[in-house]
Amino acid sequence: MTKKVRKAVIPAAGLGTRFLPATKALAKEMLPIVDKPTLQFIFEEALRSGIEDILVVTNKSKRSIEDHFDSNFELEHNLREKGKDDLLKLVDDATAIRLHFIRQSYPKGLGDAVLQAKAFVGNEPFVVMLGDDLMDITDESVKPITRQLIEDYEATHASTIAVMPVPHEEVSSYGVIAPHGEGVNGLYSVETFVEKPKPEDAPSDLAIIGRYLLTPEIFDILENQEPGAGNEIQLTDAIDTLNKTQRVFAREFTGKRYDVGDKFGFMKTSIDYALTHPQVKDDVKDYIIELAQQLQDAE
Ligand code: UTP
Repeated sequence: MTKKVRKAVIPAAGLGTRFLPATKALAKEMLPIVDKPTLQFIFEEALRSGIEDILVVTNKSKRSIEDHFDSNFELEHNLREKGKDDLLKLVDDATAIRLHFIRQSYPKGLGDAVLQAKAFVGNEPFVVMLGDDLMDITDESVKPITRQLIEDYEATHASTIAVMPVPHEEVSSYGVIAPHGEGVNGLYSVETFVEKPKPEDAPSDLAIIGRYLLTPEIFDILENQEPGAGNEIQLTDAIDTLNKTQRVFAREFTGKRYDVGDKFGFMKTSIDYALTHPQVKDDVKDYIIELAQQLQDAE
């Protein structure tokens, strides 16, 4: 019988070196997109996908995560006294899901971060949602990719990893799949999963993005996983090993993905989201048009 997918693991213990100095003391997963921390978007995706429990893997400089998603009695009391119910709702929304935290003592890599979730997950299929990857945040009517992965699991009973085409010269920043033939309705059988290949060695341009549905057998593999690319314990290497004993599929994501951990990616996320935000969208649009005109005039 298929086990229900109820749990999500969100690794958020990386160093965030691409976003220094902001990430020296602040978790990149807490960087706000207009007015909402990045992680809150991910929690909302999890909720809309039917996830009931989330484990966030943090490190010692990530106290702000635990505080944000806890209740803030003083703030809530103050807002209630002043009748600011709209603001109170925003604060309450942050505490709407069952959250758990665990620390990764040293950033040994994504594979090691996921391994910290072994006891939390137990013997169930689960999803991994990377804390700095946002998907389709400007349209809540779209089926979340996490929901799609869960439906794939319900149909195949197999691990399924989200992928999307990236420019060929960028494949060395990603894990990449060697698909086995053509995909069927966006679902691929996979021959191998390769972490950070050189463009000339990459088996395809289909890159692993930050959503995974994994069976619990991944933990036994991660426990014995040797460091790989960048001398880090790589989740991609463990998935490649898993694929040798049970099928692992890849699901092509066709929506819009944002890499918030990258400076330009963060800017794009903020602009796109601002253009949908009821309080600022009109002003932002006018400003962009004005700016574009100025830039054109200056050429
Ligand atoms: P990244 O490689 O994007 O994160 O890892 P990073 O290492 O923090 O970033 P840069 O490259 O130095 O800027 C993808 C996800 O895995 C988590 C990160 O927090 C991020 O959400 N991660 C990575 C961990 O939790 N632990 C690790 O040891 C490594």
